[in-house]
Formats: sequence, structure tokens, C-alpha cells
Amino acid sequence: MSRHVLYPGSFDPVTLGHVDILERTCRLFDRVTVLVAAHGKAGLLPVEQRVDLVRTSVAHLPGVAVESFSGLLVDEVLARGAAAVVRGIRNAGDYEHEWSMAGVNSLLASDTEFVYLLARPDLAAVSSTLVRDVIRHGGALDRLVPAPVVRALDSDGRKD
Ligand code: PNS
Repeated sequence: MSRHVLYPGSFDPVTLGHVDILERTCRLFDRVTVLVAAHGKAGLLPVEQRVDLVRTSVAHLPGVAVESFSGLLVDEVLARGAAAVVRGIRNAGDYEHEWSMAGVNSLLASDTEFVYLLARPDLAAVSSTLVRDVIRHGGALDRLVPAPVVRALDSDGRKD
């Protein structure tokens, strides 16, 4: 049976940590759909650009599609017939946040399965929030985000 998993998030912007989670997810599932939240936290990049940057950053991975979404995650799981949702966990703070979201999601749709992958230790400190701060202050991005994101932000003249 072909196993389809959803990988949702804000991806504002996509980081090397996200790409690592995605590469590892591809080894566990046949098909992955990355769902970029259109109405995420107030952030840096418009959703179309976040989708484009994820797409170019994971072009080396077969079986990965990238789309935006704006409704409830559990509705996407149902509509797409996905087997599970994958999320990365970097630290205890992430765990607590995921615990709450999983609790609410299970009250909305009790049969939604969540799979959690621990972040690679050398990438566990990297978050989109901190990357946005580095971007605002013009810091080096090459060890934080995939090369297409570095190039896009450099050619944008570093958005604010
Ligand atoms: O990368 P993020 O910001 O941690 O991703 C959070 C995201 C987009 C997965 C979460 O906010 C989400 O699932 N949003 C969709 C709306 C929803 O289903 N909300 C109710 C359950 S938390």
C-alpha cells in the first residue's frame, strides 16, 4: 500500500532543519505533501514565495509535492486520505507545543496519526524565527537555510 504523509508548517523560511526532516520522512513514506500554512504567524515572506522556496529546496527528493493550505490540518488529512502527519521536534518547548496541537487535533478528528522526528542534533537550534532575526540583521545564512533560500534573499536585498 502507498503511504502518503503530510508535513505541515509555516516554513517562513524553510530551514536546513526542515529539509533534514523531509529527507528522513521520504525514507519512511512513499509520498510526502508539504503543506505551507497560508495564515501562519505574522512573518517575513508571502505564502507563494514560501511555497516556491520549499519546492526548489527539495527538488532533489522524489515523491515530494509542495502546496499551500489555509484551513484546518485535520481536514487536509481527511481530504487527501493521508496516513499521517509528520512534525519535527527540536527541544522540550517544541514537544509541549506539539503536545497541545496534537490534543486539539485529536478532539477535532480522533483518528489522525502524528509521527514525530527528533531534529538532528547539529540543527536542533535552528528555527525559522531565529533565521528571520539573522536575516533582519544581515547575518550569514548558509549554515541555516538551503542554498536557494540564501540566493533568493540575497537577490531580494534581504527583506524585512
Ligand atoms: O511551522 P509551524 O508554525 O509550527 O506550523 C504550525 C501549523 C501550520 C502546523 C499549525 O498552526 C496548523 O496546523 N495550522 C492549521 C490550522 C489548524 O488546524 N489549527 C488547529 C490545530 S493546532
